[in-house]
Order: sequence, then structure tokens, then C-alpha cells
Amino acid sequence: MTTKNPTNPTFLIKGLAGRKTLKGVAHINGAKNAALKAMAAAVLFNKKVRLENVPHTADIDTMAAILEKLGAKISWIGEQNGEAEVVRDHIMEIDTTTMTGTTAAETGTEKNTHTDIDPTLAAGMRASVVLTGPLLARFGKVSFPAPGGCVIGARPIDLFIEGYKKMGAKVTLEDGLYKISAPNGLSGMDDFFHTISVGGTETLMMAAVLAKGKTILSNCAKEPEIVNVAEWLISCGAKIKGAGTSTIEIIGNGRNIGDDKKLLEPTKHFVTIPDRIEAGSFILLGALCAKDLVIENCEPKHLTAVLHLLNDSGVLIDTKPNAVQIKGNSRVNSSFKSFDIRTKEYPGFPTDLQAPAVTFLTQVTGESNILETIFEGRFKYVEDLETLGANITVLNPREVRVKGPTAFVQSVEKEVGGGDAPADLYAHDIRAGFAIVMAALTAKGQFVIHNAHLIDRGYEKLEERLKALGANIERVL
Ligand code: EPZ
Repeated sequence: MTTKNPTNPTFLIKGLAGRKTLKGVAHINGAKNAALKAMAAAVLFNKKVRLENVPHTADIDTMAAILEKLGAKISWIGEQNGEAEVVRDHIMEIDTTTMTGTTAAETGTEKNTHTDIDPTLAAGMRASVVLTGPLLARFGKVSFPAPGGCVIGARPIDLFIEGYKKMGAKVTLEDGLYKISAPNGLSGMDDFFHTISVGGTETLMMAAVLAKGKTILSNCAKEPEIVNVAEWLISCGAKIKGAGTSTIEIIGNGRNIGDDKKLLEPTKHFVTIPDRIEAGSFILLGALCAKDLVIENCEPKHLTAVLHLLNDSGVLIDTKPNAVQIKGNSRVNSSFKSFDIRTKEYPGFPTDLQAPAVTFLTQVTGESNILETIFEGRFKYVEDLETLGANITVLNPREVRVKGPTAFVQSVEKEVGGGDAPADLYAHDIRAGFAIVMAALTAKGQFVIHNAHLIDRGYEKLEERLKALGANIERVL
């Protein structure tokens, strides 16, 4: 049964039963994982900043809500409120000059104030932790909840905490709340990340921009989203060298807390790069379900690892400067060859495409081993694929073996009450959710994808975009 709860929407999908009929153009939005970090970086500026090509996903709304609770003012340009249809141009303005940096203790209220990150909102989105760097650098203090384990793994924050301590901050943990203070501002430091971390790299890089002296970060992540944010900060006066390599050097502005002259000046707008994970998701979907699909406004060079594997598997892909076309895709999926995957930091195979790639591999011929090296809990969706008939062996929490091909069917029909009741499937996280949508579209039968709000965290209006390509998918509130 689908619940009629707008906060928990479902997708109702009628599968294509293995036919490859999707056709058209999928326009790729800006990368949410870059835009989220640029939103956090807005705290480093002395004036309103403008971010362009921002995807309107639920995670972006959550980050906006957190910033608003911290006192910032956020507006979507082109948005029409009231009766008229809402028009969004994917342009956001963030004004952090309204943030005062007062704490609950100082104001004597129980309310969240300008350096206390809202615990409830933060619990819903791990990326909120990247705000701690800019807040600490600007106001000399920040409090935030210790993030719990999440659906894809433990996700510790030791790299952040150790980094702040090395920058001279004092850290306490009381009743599940971290309180960090550096009343005299942060100092530059030398750090080596024991684990390559996207968020750790970005957060300490941003904090170091306002610090006193030089910071050298080693064993950094090299994801394009980090370079996107770094280049914007550099264009606005930050002294950052090496973003996109494993060593990043930052010469801080030497700021004392309260000295707003040493904040960054927004001389350039931030332009979000295309979302490589969204592009990769549509490419994998297109390989299985489309006759002819153009994935436009993407950056194929950010997807080299994925495109190589698909090419070797037999998928015909035409790569253009800002687009990828899957054309003349008339071969049956079982004629594609299997391949092994080992997820890796960029430029390796992205963990965020692991689940959609497993759905792809269930449909092709042969055996594939998939090793998840980044997160220890990213195979929860496997049981949903199994209900459709997938042949997957879980070797250990980080490794599965897929034997394909399997024609997916609405196999649980009888178990869910018989008749024509659609089979229930679940989105476990953003990317696993996409993988399950892909699987349902491939299958024969009707399916309800529960927890579609998790898919909304990372894909803007997915059902509308799939419908435009010819998919039979509805959002049910
Ligand atoms: C980012 O998460 C992305 N999120 C994730 O995207 C992505 O899966 C991940 O990078 C890996 O590419 C955003 O950018 C908002 P990490 P992040 O720190 O930064 C360990 C999606 O679907 N670690 O690079 O949180 C950690 O446990 C998502 O869009 C520590 O040990 O990931 C993991 O094993 C979900 N200590 C590894 O590093 C720390 O202090 C890499 O995680 C921090 C991390």
C-alpha cells in the first residue's frame, strides 16, 4: 500500500520489460556536491554571493534552511511566489552579512543562533558538517551535533576535528554536541589525511582561507567539485594552490575574528559544474533502456572511468565536448559483457555510481565482482534487486558478485497480496534509489518505489525528466 504522505512520496513505475524505447535529450543539472560546498563557502564573504547552475534538489533546500537558521538570507532568482507558477533559474543568492555570530549562551535563549548548526537539520544531511570550517574561520566558534552512522556507513569526522585542533581550536564534545572555539582566529598548519576525504579536503581548505599563515593539506581528494569551489574562491582573492592534486597549499588572509575587511570579496559568481554523477546515472540508464539518448550539458572527461568500462562492455557511446550520446542502442542487453568494479576516489570509479552500475550488470552476460572501497554499507539495495530476480551473492559487507543476465519481473506480486498490486521496492539512499528506479524501468510489471524523497535529495524532478524520455513513471503523494 502506498501512503498518502507528501513528505514521503513514492514513484509508481510501469517497466519496459526489457524493451529499449527511451529516447530524447536528458539535460544534466549542476553538481549538488559542488553547489552545497559553495553555499557553505558563502560564509567566507563580506557581501551577498551569487551561485549559478544550482540544482534544485532537497539537499540544497536543507543546506539553505540551515544557513537561514544561522541568520543568512537566501533567495532563488527568478522565483515567483504566490499564485503564479514557480520559476527557478537555478540561480541562488546568499547574503551572510546578516549573520552576527552570537551563540545561544550569549543571547540567553534556547534558540539556535548564528554559530549553532541546527541539530535536527544537520542530522538529515551529512554535508552540513562542511559548514563548520567557514563558520569557525569567520566567527571563531561553532557548535554542531556529532553525526551518527548513516545508511551508507559510519562516516566519522575525525579528520575535521583533528584539523581544527591543529589550527589552534579548542574542541569539546558534550551531550552529543561538538563545541569548537578559536577566539583568536585559526592558524595555518600542516596536515596529512589518513583517509582521502572529499568533505575533509574542502572544509579544511575553506577554513584555511581566512587563517593566519600557510596551511598544507596532504593526501587530499581530487574530485572536480573541490576544484570548482577552489577556483571560485581563488577568483575572489583566496590564495589556494594545488586543488585537484593530492597536495593543497593555502596562504590564509591572516584574519582576526571580527575583521570583516579580511573576508573574501565576491568579485565573481560561482558557476556550478555539471553533475558527473547525475550524468553517469543517465548514461547507465540509457545503456539499458534507451534507443537513442543524448545526455547534454555534462563533462565527459569527469566520467572517464565509467565510459571506459561501458565502452568495453559493448555500449555504443559517442562522446562530444559537452555531451554524451548513446545511439543506435538496439542490441539486447544480454549481448553486453560483464566487468568488475572497484570503487575509488576520483579519477577512479565513483562510489556514487556503484549501485546504478550493479543494476546495469544484472542485465548483461557474465559474472562481475564489485568491491566498494569507500563506504562499508553501500549494498542495502541488493535485496530489492533480488526480489526482481537478480542473481547477486554478497561476499562480505564491501563486496558482491553479480551473475547476469536476469530478466527482471514483478516477482513479488503474489507475496504483496496477489492481483495486480504493484511490487514494493525501496530507495535506501540517493544513488541506490536511482539504481532501483533503473531496475524497475528495465523490468516487466508495475512497481512502487518507496522513500522517493531520498532520490529527491540528489536528482531534481527525476520523474518529470524520465517521463519526457518516454518512461511510464508517476509521483504519488
Ligand atoms: C562526499 O561525501 C559526497 N557527498 C558523497 O556523495 C560521496 O559518496 C563521497 O564524497 C565519496 O565520493 C558530498 O559531497 C556532499 P568522504 P563525504 O569524506 O565528503 C572516511 C551522494 O550520493 N572519513 O570523501 O562525506 C569516510 O568514512 C553522496 O551524493 C574518515 O575516515 O565523503 C569514508 O570512508 C553520498 N574521517 C571516506 O573517508 C573523516 O573525518 C571518504 O568519505 C571523514 C571521512
